[in-house]
Amino acid sequence: MRFGGLRALAGVSFEVSRGSITALIGPNGAGKTTVFNCITGFYRPTSGRIVLVEPQALGAHPGAVSGTLPRERPLGRLPIHQVARLGIGRTYQNIRLFRRMSALENLLVAQHRDVARGLFAGVFRTPAFRRAEGAALARAWDWLGFVGLERAANREAGTLPYGQQRRLELARALAARPRLICLDEPAAGLNRAETAELIGLIRRVQREHGVTVLLIEHHMGVVMELSEHVVVLDHGEVIGAGTPAEIQRDPRVIGAYLGEEPPPAAGQRGEAQP
Ligand SMILES: Nc1ncnc2c1ncn2[C@@H]1O[C@H](COP(=O)(O)OP(=O)(O)O)[C@@H](O)[C@H]1O
Ligand SMILES: [Mg+2]
Repeated sequence: MRFGGLRALAGVSFEVSRGSITALIGPNGAGKTTVFNCITGFYRPTSGRIVLVEPQALGAHPGAVSGTLPRERPLGRLPIHQVARLGIGRTYQNIRLFRRMSALENLLVAQHRDVARGLFAGVFRTPAFRRAEGAALARAWDWLGFVGLERAANREAGTLPYGQQRRLELARALAARPRLICLDEPAAGLNRAETAELIGLIRRVQREHGVTVLLIEHHMGVVMELSEHVVVLDHGEVIGAGTPAEIQRDPRVIGAYLGEEPPPAAGQRGEAQP
């Protein structure tokens, strides 16, 4: 990914296995958020390939071979809404909620692709529209409960305490029913108790909801506790990949963090950045 003369990412290559929690780490400015922006369609990569591999069931007719066949969906050239439709969701390094809408409304908006059925259906409130709307409301409540925000349902999102806004953002991304969720520094600015709670939630997202997680995180405790696979980015290049234990003793990785401030501990606010 180039921005004019700036080469933000160069030859970045890694895989995220289905069902895993994979962490993307690296010093500030390494290019982590840029990777997310390329995957989710916010940026159109200057070159390269990003693919979503999904299993496709074989044997739709009797006597056919059963099983699955991987099918590749190219991303990287698709606009944001089409990437979302393929089941890729995200949260942002800086919280992006509809601040003047209630917590519940934020979760309803997140599901609009399920509810929107055209002007006619909306104006005349066809049965199909009402069913979809009812299901969306039920799901909104489910996700609010999942992140422990049922009692904040009718509060304006912008007035919620910071830690609750972070959880609402997670719920908003989940309400769109992604199969892959990209979390950009979800623990930034959380205190110790909130961080522990978040770790539990992310694990449940993976285990109970079967969502693959790609996580950018500065908080090493979170990375080490959650991820099976860690990819390290520095100056737009992958300088290491492996298990958390392998990464922790990789000299190149240690070197990349030298001269950097140590990764911030819980309780500090994330820096302002787009
Ligand atoms: N839209 C953009 N225009 C120009 N430069 C950008 C843009 N987005 C990111 N960059 C640059 O790409 C580099 C990586 O940024 P970023 O992906 O935000 O790093 P990280 O998330 O690892 O801290 C930085 O030098 C940043 O200034
Ligand atoms: Mg970033």
